[in-house]
Amino acid sequence: MNITNIAIIGAGNMGHQIAVCAALAGFRVRCTDTNGAILDQAIAFADTYLTGRVTKGKLTQEAADQARARLAFVPMLEEAVADVDLVIEAIIEKLDVKRALFAQLDKLCPAHTILATNSSYIVSSKIADATSRPDKVCNMHFFNPALVMKLVEVVKGPHVSQETVDTVMTAARTMGKTPVLLHKEIYGFLVNRFLQATRQEALKLLDMGVASHEDIDTAVMNGLGYPMGPFQLLDLTGLDLAYHVGMEKYRETGDPADRPSPTVVEKFTKGEWGKKVGKGFYDYES
Ligand code: 3HC
Repeated sequence: MNITNIAIIGAGNMGHQIAVCAALAGFRVRCTDTNGAILDQAIAFADTYLTGRVTKGKLTQEAADQARARLAFVPMLEEAVADVDLVIEAIIEKLDVKRALFAQLDKLCPAHTILATNSSYIVSSKIADATSRPDKVCNMHFFNPALVMKLVEVVKGPHVSQETVDTVMTAARTMGKTPVLLHKEIYGFLVNRFLQATRQEALKLLDMGVASHEDIDTAVMNGLGYPMGPFQLLDLTGLDLAYHVGMEKYRETGDPADRPSPTVVEKFTKGEWGKKVGKGFYDYES
């Protein structure tokens, strides 16, 4: 199946960058969000980013204009998904909210449309049965910042057709990404299993008072060669995401070890969600 039109649902941390990335790759993109302020921020980002690429000499003015013309930010879901071939959902990490959205998408989208979720942890088999097309519901997981990070994890759950997987892998390659295919559904896919392990260790060391978050970041960057330390990365991906993901897992397993760490709960409660709000472990206002 050829993908021409893509809809991105959710213009937040991930969605707005996936939208720009897809438009730059030549797809016609409609991005929507129920929150008008988030949508306005996404529009401002797209304009600033594309202008910045031209100024930096990374993009011609013509290519930037063409990408911008292919990209629309629309408030109504119905408008975003009309004539769409591929939907990439990037909304809040709450299973019931995602299931409700997919049921709605199933009714609104053409019969051929593939419904992909960018969820970090929720496997698509938990969502697919909310639709009448489980063979066309899969995970397509991008990494933050989505315009920069090359990896996309595509997961072939037991309900997903080979055609769906092939189409999504091809779309990811067209977007300039390097997709990897998981043959089985597993919590955290590949990368987030590694990420979770280092993150938990970092939070444990901080909660034990072994070192400051700055020094833990410095140690990981300089001792392991990571481009960012675990706390800088938490600020980038969002403390709210870390909290919701932890709570979803805890609700599912009931295992206290799966609860978000006290530090994550505290940051979440204070609204210190990271870079997007100007404060997380680090202060971005200054
Ligand atoms: N958005 C868009 N582009 C960005 C960006 C952003 N937030 N931050 C940096 N860039 C671009 C710059 O424009 C620059 O592009 P250019 O070279 O083509 O001009 C390039 O990235 C390098 O930027 P900088 O020189 O300013 O900064 P760095 O070299 O330090 O790179 C980084 C920044 C790419 C964010 C790098 O620090 C990095 O790779 N960090 C690790 C990110 C990571 O691990 N992501 C995965 C998170 S886990 C995840 O997403 C899973 C989810 O489920 C939680």
